[in-house]
Amino acid sequence: MSNLANKNILLCVTGGIAAYKAAELVRLFKTANAFVRVLMTQGAQEFITPLTMQALSGDKVHTDLLNTEAEAAMGHIELAKWSDLIVVAPCSANSLSKLAEGRGDDLFSAVCLASESDLFVAPAMNQAMWKDMRTQKNLKRIIKFGAKIIGPASGEQACGDIGEGRMTEPKEIFSEIENEIECGLLAGRKVLITAGPTQEMIDPVRFISNKSSGKMGFSLAEEIKNQGAIVTLISGPVNLDTPDKVKRFDVQSAKEMQSKVEELIEDCDIFISAAAVADFKPKKYEQKKIKKGSEVHQMKIELDKNFDILKTVTDKKLNLKTVGFAAETEDLINNAEKKLVEKNLDLIVANDVSDQSIGFDSDENEVTLITKLEKKKIKKTSKKNVSKKIIEFIAQKVIND
Ligand SMILES: Cc1cc2nc3c(=O)[nH]c(=O)nc-3n(C[C@H](O)[C@H](O)[C@H](O)COP(=O)(O)O)c2cc1C
Repeated sequence: MSNLANKNILLCVTGGIAAYKAAELVRLFKTANAFVRVLMTQGAQEFITPLTMQALSGDKVHTDLLNTEAEAAMGHIELAKWSDLIVVAPCSANSLSKLAEGRGDDLFSAVCLASESDLFVAPAMNQAMWKDMRTQKNLKRIIKFGAKIIGPASGEQACGDIGEGRMTEPKEIFSEIENEIECGLLAGRKVLITAGPTQEMIDPVRFISNKSSGKMGFSLAEEIKNQGAIVTLISGPVNLDTPDKVKRFDVQSAKEMQSKVEELIEDCDIFISAAAVADFKPKKYEQKKIKKGSEVHQMKIELDKNFDILKTVTDKKLNLKTVGFAAETEDLINNAEKKLVEKNLDLIVANDVSDQSIGFDSDENEVTLITKLEKKKIKKTSKKNVSKKIIEFIAQKVIND
């Protein structure tokens, strides 16, 4: 799958005859699972309508700088920050000169000036305009500032001239950008992660649960997404924000988590079970709140073994890699190794939860990664760093085994 997946691409269309070809670029980026927003100069809008670009990108087209409504919704700075990369295609001679001069007198030039992301420029103009010393000087300047130039191509031009200046074809622009963008460790993989605790209801107001905060699973989801994967997160009840560009489904009980996993697992490459699924659930759910009563001094709740979500997934023998977590308070490695074999996992992350400074609800963790062939300890560090190390291990040892 494309390493443009999950990238925020701002496509800037400027006023040239090749503006209509930008429509094809939007389609290509979207097919690669990138998030696309379109910015059009006033000139560009004379060649192709914002409506067309809006329909293709599925998002409002950005056109104005000095517009209170636009600035309130997504101002030029926000748009600049949102972009992982900016693609200017076609780039007119006029817009090229604005980039070279560092102007900021319209939305296009202001956003480009305010952005620190990668800038790809596909010039398109008449061959004489292209050859002109001033254009060439502008070109050199923007290359010096870090812009990557794509094209232009040679051939017959719309005006009848023959020479260099035609915009490179969208497919080629797309491939050049795709080749330039650094490929994440999990680029294009589809990953399903469960996180947080489950709650097993006793009666309408009481439940059995555990201390899981979901922090480890959410951190993994965020880091895996940063490595180019398409991430879906199924979360038990937690108090955490959804990482950007991660699709999240909330569930409460193990049963709900299990059915959501079954629904979403089919086309995944990797399943990571980071949720602390309650091992037991009440045998019977009381429809009405259980009354305390003055004569009641003791209360017994019968428990049944809960759904084993991970085992259900591995038993299906789907063509995917499975990663489990073992939260233990004693005999950590032995118990984790047993779980690895019993559940037929590719990797188990063993986690000592007897130490309050790591594991559940803490911001730090210390884990041991165990496969059938090796063990690797990750010393106490932030959950973000632990996530990064787990992902490196998955990329090197689990996917490529
Ligand atoms: C029919 C027509 C076609 C044009 N094609 C181009 C072109 O391909 N490249 C270019 O640099 N300018 C072209 N121009 C000139 C630009 O549209 C003009 O310089 C405009 O101010 C560019 O504005 P912008 O860079 O803000 O989009 C063309 C003008 C017209 C009338």
